Amino acid sequence: MPRIDQETVNKILDTADIVDVVSDFVKLRRSGANFKGLCPFHNERTPSFSVNRARNICKCFSCGKGGSPVNFIMEHEQLSYQEALRYLARKYNIEIVEKELSDQEREAMNTREAMLAVNEFALTHFKKNLLESDEGRDTALAYLRHRGISDAMIARFHLGYAIDKSRELIDAAKSSGFNTKYLVDTGLAIERDDKSLYDRFRSRVIFPVHSISGRVIAFGGRTMRSDKTIAKYVNSPESSIYHKNLELYGLYQAKSAIAKKDKCILVEGYLDVISMHQAGVENVVASSGTSLTEGQIRALRRFSNNVTLIYDADAAGIKASLRGINMLLGEGLNVKVLSLPPGDDPDSFAQSHSSTEVEAYLADHEVDIIAFMADMLLRDVPDNDPTAKAKAINGILYSVAFVDDPVTTQEYIAQCSRRLSVPEQVLAAQLRVLRTRRLEEAAKDAARRQARESVAPQTETNVTAATDASEEQPLVPEAPLLNLDTNSLRPYEEMLMRYIVRYGLMYIMDIARSDGSFAPGTVFDLIDGELGIDGYSMTYPPFKRTYEAVKELRYGSWQTDRTIFMRTLEDECSARMAEAYDEIRQTAENIAQIESMEQRAHDDIEKYRLAKINEFDAKYCQDHLANSPDDVVRNTANALIIERYTLSRIYTKQENIESEESQLPELVPRAIYELQNAILSARLRDLSTELATLDASHIDRAQEIIMKIAELQNMQRELVKVLGERIILPKR
Ligand code: CTP
Ligand code: MN
Repeated sequence: MPRIDQETVNKILDTADIVDVVSDFVKLRRSGANFKGLCPFHNERTPSFSVNRARNICKCFSCGKGGSPVNFIMEHEQLSYQEALRYLARKYNIEIVEKELSDQEREAMNTREAMLAVNEFALTHFKKNLLESDEGRDTALAYLRHRGISDAMIARFHLGYAIDKSRELIDAAKSSGFNTKYLVDTGLAIERDDKSLYDRFRSRVIFPVHSISGRVIAFGGRTMRSDKTIAKYVNSPESSIYHKNLELYGLYQAKSAIAKKDKCILVEGYLDVISMHQAGVENVVASSGTSLTEGQIRALRRFSNNVTLIYDADAAGIKASLRGINMLLGEGLNVKVLSLPPGDDPDSFAQSHSSTEVEAYLADHEVDIIAFMADMLLRDVPDNDPTAKAKAINGILYSVAFVDDPVTTQEYIAQCSRRLSVPEQVLAAQLRVLRTRRLEEAAKDAARRQARESVAPQTETNVTAATDASEEQPLVPEAPLLNLDTNSLRPYEEMLMRYIVRYGLMYIMDIARSDGSFAPGTVFDLIDGELGIDGYSMTYPPFKRTYEAVKELRYGSWQTDRTIFMRTLEDECSARMAEAYDEIRQTAENIAQIESMEQRAHDDIEKYRLAKINEFDAKYCQDHLANSPDDVVRNTANALIIERYTLSRIYTKQENIESEESQLPELVPRAIYELQNAILSARLRDLSTELATLDASHIDRAQEIIMKIAELQNMQRELVKVLGERIILPKR
């Protein structure tokens, strides 16, 4: 899809009204200054979903989801950023101007569109064959009924049938005016050496594969014969619209359920997905018989971080897909495994049990992947064979090494220690070895990938891939300036980020410049200046990225946009002033009255002017961040905008924005001091730890540390004095 031109994007963002947008899905009632309704993101009986028209955001106070209109649509309809913009443009009848394309891009676009159109035609044709032709009804429809597939599922998954002839589809497409070139490109037709064509799919039940946004990008065709000499499935080949290793079968139909249940169940085949849906379990997708790829995991991740794999009872299945599992763990997903009763696959299980039974079985039989692997690998190890045991343990730890989250890792270690009766320290030490090895492997992989990508032309998929890659945290994190325990700093960073996102470009106070003069400064200027002195930058990567985005606004578009805005505002104010003068001259009775009336008019207009500027600055920062095309920035900003905070006791009584805004000159410096204080504490902790490890041979270093500690303690005392007793802690 071509990108939308920036001006159109702005128009869409300016037009979309949160109440309007949400009302299409949620019944809202007015409640004070806000609107309220039942949250569409989780099941609830009392409304906790609140919509604020003035700030153009919504938020569920129970599950926390919400955000700007674009965010709401992305979440609710499970669309990408660009797709959500298109949705809103359609809603408000805004004509979309696409970004200018180069000839080459345009040609690629046209080819893609033509291929998708041919697929769409084929889909309709296959469906008609299944339901309206005698051949289709007698063979394929009968087959599907025999497999227990309902009409509702046939419709939902757009199942079809390919007639048993060699040029059936080709002829139909031709007589409908399609260029056969695109039939070959999509793989619907196969070209012989003599250039003549024949249909790829003949006498097969057709399973179309949809992209996440619902376009048909490929087909799978299953034979109805049990004859082992012919392939069970024939599938569309790779093409410019179908990259097998980026697609998951059923994701289009399952995505809402996956997001809503915050879990995805992964199965192997088309029929597994369909039968599970039929049994009412809709958060199911299939990897289509191959092992999982990184691209598929990335597609999944958009909807949930929790994955349950359903496997046949035999252990061989699991071992074969171990690579896939490690990849899931490495991507930070929570992986569970579920085994079905021997002899069952998801399809047969779903077909032979009621919906309630299926749901209950799923809920009761999930086990965590590491526990599962431990059981499986240790099952065959005899007690008296230490070598075999060590090998099994290494196998498990190898997978644990893919988990990046320290808390989860710790849980796994404890779990394994209990199960394997090996002390935690031993496992942890071995894990470090394996992890180093893994990081080295990953670094090599990354280098290889980068080398490949740097020569690839930038097509649209490449562009997305590149942004995705940059979102990944570097394998070896940039050396932090201070060697600090960042977890303890994060709440303080969060408080500052919250001020930055909400009020970042608003005037807060005059700030001293390096030449000693003072200049008006924004909230961001104040924070950036103070933290800059220490060379500090946010340790939590999403904050750092959002901070950089504000910096970019501050020194980029904000200045020009603001100049333009100010010019218009000045014009408006002069016009108002002129009008007021005219009126005063007509109504005033003497010079004194003229003077006092003019003074009042002047004050009013000045107040209006300042309010307008304030509004512009506040809205500018929030809107740009909350609607940023950068997923990390947008999500972080939305979370911070809608986050509820417990403020110190001064503000709990009147927790409204106005009071917070007017308190900024006090609140922001305080939040800065609090972060500085936390940094000092962390550094002091580090130094004390180091000191404790030093022995007599390191007297010099010890002395150095002691002096440093004294210095830092002094600084901290000063800070605490300013901070006083009222420490504002963000709610955790
Ligand atoms: N598959 C394939 N080509 C094959 C065999 C399998 O593409 N020759 C893919 C299909 O996506 C299939 C999945 O692997 O859905 C799982 O294979 P299998 O379990 O054999 O097929 P099912 O779809 O489960 O079909 P059935 O239940 O009718 O055996
Ligand atoms: Mn099957």
